[in-house]
Amino acid sequence: MTQIRHEMGIILKSPREIGQMRDAGRIAAAVLDAVAKEVRPGITTGELDDIAVNGVKKRGAEASFKGYRGYPASICTSVNEEVVHGIPGRRVLNEGEIVSLDFGALVDGFHGDAALTVGVGRITAEAQRIIDAARGALEAGIDAAKIGARLGDVSAAIQAYVEARGFSVVREYVGHGIGRELHEDPQVPNFGIPGEGPLLQKGMTMALEPMLNAGVLRTRVAEDRWTVVTADGKLSAHFEHTIAIDENGPEILTKL
Ligand code: MF3
Ligand code: CO
Repeated sequence: MTQIRHEMGIILKSPREIGQMRDAGRIAAAVLDAVAKEVRPGITTGELDDIAVNGVKKRGAEASFKGYRGYPASICTSVNEEVVHGIPGRRVLNEGEIVSLDFGALVDGFHGDAALTVGVGRITAEAQRIIDAARGALEAGIDAAKIGARLGDVSAAIQAYVEARGFSVVREYVGHGIGRELHEDPQVPNFGIPGEGPLLQKGMTMALEPMLNAGVLRTRVAEDRWTVVTADGKLSAHFEHTIAIDENGPEILTKL
């Protein structure tokens, strides 16, 4: 989501609501997996959107992003230097490119939101390295999301993981609380200070989504008014899971 400044309430979910979010998360993950399996040289990003539309329909759910603030598609496809919010269309994917796929499912009033980045055919070692670092950064954030920790601990864990690998963390877009709304409080930055921010409590549900750049952290928005690109045109990678805070540790809701 785009970073906004105001802070309202965090909505804690009951075990029953978490169960519903598990259903939404599972469907989001299944659709994303189905789309990711079709990524290959020659396919268009619009065809990937079609696969997502069919996949979510087949599972009796709705796409969270379609129409959200006027977003025109069901999935986001962000290629190479595109960070997030790439709009699928006629663009043909070529060997050696990387593409972030971001998909949200709405099931019985609850959202699940997930993203991953994959290579198109054979990719360079450097492209593989940023993908692996983005996946690892998400895992580091999830590992830090324990009851009693603070949100800043999660943010700082992600930032430390990314910067130790020589990549930069996008500041202008952040993760978010999620539930009946796609974007709820709190904002979940991928950078921060340990010990700061709200305490993590049982029933909090959040989408963690580190965005890593190979070069500078700065971004800009392309002419389509949606696609976020790196300011220097270098590669970017993105992974996202929806998680629930629980006494048994963080639960990944967008699991296959
Ligand atoms: N995971 C992204 C986010 O939380 C995807 C949103 S795309 C939009 O911001 F179209 F819905 F904005
Ligand atoms: Co999100």
